[in-house]
Amino acid sequence: MSESLYLHQGTKEEQYVSLIPQLKGLLEGETDLIANLSNIAAALKAQFNWLWIGFYLVKQEELVLGPFQGPVACTRIQKGRGVCGSAWATETTLIVPDVEQFPGHIACSGLSKSEIVLPIIVNGVVVGVLDADHSTLQHFDEVDQRYLQEIIDLIEWPR
Ligand code: SME
Repeated sequence: MSESLYLHQGTKEEQYVSLIPQLKGLLEGETDLIANLSNIAAALKAQFNWLWIGFYLVKQEELVLGPFQGPVACTRIQKGRGVCGSAWATETTLIVPDVEQFPGHIACSGLSKSEIVLPIIVNGVVVGVLDADHSTLQHFDEVDQRYLQEIIDLIEWPR
């Protein structure tokens, strides 16, 4: 693996296209889940400088805070609660242009204005979510959804 990143300047899509092969390199040969999720969070933060990027992992029927970059965050989220718990319950990606308009949104940081949450589904079961927050409205779109899903698909989950 290479321990340095080349941070491409360009459109959002160009940035993902440049970052994803580098992420593959970072994950290659490493099977430890926490190590890999930590590097993905750090690489996404370095490339995009979102307010918050990280993972919640399903543990005993709750989402528990996992590797992340950004301000400290709430540690546990119940199924169906907030954007993360809703993405888990509905097993769908949620793109939230204005978090204040999302019923039950959990405000870990008052600076967060928009958010995307993708469920991580392994063998038909949600094992966690990837969550990204931005300090401006309407930041995330289908381009983020597509490439963040590609990134999730790179992760090898313990069986
Ligand atoms: N806003 C999320 C909670 C997690 S923080 O954004 C890191 C939610 O409503 O589920």
